[in-house]
Amino acid sequence: MMYAAIMGYGTIGTGVAEILETSREKIAGSAGQEICLKYVLDLREFPDSPVADRIVHDFEIIEEDEQVRLVVETMGGLNPAYPFVKACLSAGKHVVTSNKALVAAHGTELLQIARDKGVNFFFEASVGGGIPIIRTLYRCLTGERIQEITGILNGTTNYILTKMDQEGASFEQALKEAQELGYAERNPEADVEGHDTCRKIAILTAMATGKEVNYEDINTEGITGKGITGITEMDFRYAREMGTSVKLLGTSRIVDGKVHARVAPMMISKENPLYGVSGVYNGILVKSDRLGVSMYYGSGAGKLPTASAVVADLIEAAQNENNNVSIGWGAERQEIADSKISECRYFVRIAGEAEEKAEMIRTELGEVQALVLDGADEFAVLTKRMTEEEFIQHAIKLDGEWQKKGEYGIRQVIRAMLED
Ligand code: HSE
Repeated sequence: MMYAAIMGYGTIGTGVAEILETSREKIAGSAGQEICLKYVLDLREFPDSPVADRIVHDFEIIEEDEQVRLVVETMGGLNPAYPFVKACLSAGKHVVTSNKALVAAHGTELLQIARDKGVNFFFEASVGGGIPIIRTLYRCLTGERIQEITGILNGTTNYILTKMDQEGASFEQALKEAQELGYAERNPEADVEGHDTCRKIAILTAMATGKEVNYEDINTEGITGKGITGITEMDFRYAREMGTSVKLLGTSRIVDGKVHARVAPMMISKENPLYGVSGVYNGILVKSDRLGVSMYYGSGAGKLPTASAVVADLIEAAQNENNNVSIGWGAERQEIADSKISECRYFVRIAGEAEEKAEMIRTELGEVQALVLDGADEFAVLTKRMTEEEFIQHAIKLDGEWQKKGEYGIRQVIRAMLED
């Protein structure tokens, strides 16, 4: 019998307690011993819950109880999750977490403490909710050289963009609906500004390279317009005409030891396997040297999907009660290439008549595809591939010329992950 504690009885913590109870025998069979929930740490009381008799408010009860060998951290945020997790690992307890902020910010140190203490620090649920992507990377693809990971890693923004695409909703309408359905937080900043996706792609990149990734090095834009672009219904009108869609992607390409990573809304074609990932679902595309393209799809958030991943980690920790499973990354820092040198195509919306501006655009951007929508006072072009640095130079020149003539210029720019 192994005793466990859960820190944080919110949505995911509740799900973990529920699965431990309802799948007790199955879990014992897989783990090789029963996992018994001894404590649930939370500030609140839960008098009517099935764990009412196990609620504690004092972290030291868990830290000092030598019987407790497994600790689940589902509090979220860094404080007090970070000091609590560090203390548990230092006390020789295995820790399983769903907290991407914690793993992205302190994973290197926590993995090292786990190695030193001969215990495990597992975090399958921190990326892609219930989708088994972390274990896939360290177990199933361990003999592969990972060349690229690109994913729809945030269910909230994927729900919003899907509503805008399929129903013509505005960003504001789609966000409101997501909040009403509990898919988006009251303060949705971490999701819609891309910070959540940034931490997740940083963790996946570190898993792929075996080196620490500083998530702050990853150029991150969301879908609200605080970065270069804010995605609108008009963008989706063009996208539909072109047989494309716009998704918030976290992407990381590993070329000659350098990582080209970015979080941004990107235009993708129907042929891209991520095109069909709709609503709150997540999808993660991995390109590796021998397997080629593989894709992992499923529920990226939610109580039971995420708790299921936590429980799988608990079972693996129980199976490895007395040894550290070698996962994660070391202290060496992975270099992230300057985002200005990475190449892509650009979807650009421009005010005015396509014919009038065609020559200037051709001079600056070369032969480009122009698109016109019925009744619109603008047109759009799809450029050839170029670096961000080159594109910005051309765009500044074009916009400057138009402004000199008192004309409006570029209205929107979206990176396009499309073949030439
Ligand atoms: N807010 C996150 C999402 C939750 O929408 O994907 C899971 O990390």
